[in-house]
Amino acid sequence: MKVPVLSLVIILILSSAGLARIGGGDIKYEVKHIGNVIFHHDTHVETMGFSCTECHPFIFETKEKHVSLKMSHRRQARSCGVCHNGKQAFDLSTNCYVCHLKEVR
Ligand code: HEC
Ligand code: HEC
Ligand code: HEC
Repeated sequence: MKVPVLSLVIILILSSAGLARIGGGDIKYEVKHIGNVIFHHDTHVETMGFSCTECHPFIFETKEKHVSLKMSHRRQARSCGVCHNGKQAFDLSTNCYVCHLKEVR
């Protein structure tokens, strides 16, 4: 029960603080040449309706504990590739520039 309780505490802290940002907010990954990636919590949670537990803690933990993967590994149903497989969401291997942005918001 340790992990679910921790997640609940995180959710409560964030919501009771009345922060406008959803979950962990925007997460930026610096990637040279092809462009940085920004993961948006708001679109994944609000627009697409995922609950926190669909990603936490099994696919992702925190930015600090982020495991850097090679793109080839990411495609093998890990990290973003769990969903970005052409079925649940747009395919990692054909839509590079939806995630890799030259200009960073
Ligand atoms: C679609 C997947 C997904 C969903 C759904 C999701 N998150 Fe996240 N979350 C991430 C990713 C990716 C990271 C970055 C961690 C990493 O790079 O390994 C993250 C990081 C975080 C962090 C740490 C931020 C930091 O700067 O270290 C918090 C807090 C967090 N999420 C809270 C939540 C909460 C609360 C919800 C539900 C409202 C939620 N997340 C839903 C994917 C998700
Ligand atoms: C669903 C979003 C997404 C898509 C689509 C995507 N990437 Fe990535 N990519 C990422 C994330 C997130 C990282 C961050 C790596 C890290 O720090 O863990 C990354 C990292 C990388 C890296 C640096 C790591 C490495 O493998 O050397 C390269 C290069 C890369 N991507 C190339 C590509 C190419 C080429 C495509 C298209 C065929 C692509 N990416 C499509 C999200 C994506
Ligand atoms: C739990 C499933 C899931 C995971 C994990 C996930 N995504 Fe998504 N993502 C979706 C769905 C569903 C959509 C919307 C459908 C589509 O556009 O194909 C989407 C849309 C997006 C979009 C376009 C909307 C926006 O927010 O700008 C980006 C960019 C994106 N994802 C990046 C990422 C990155 C980067 C990661 C990994 C750090 C990731 N996603 C992990 C399910 C997921």
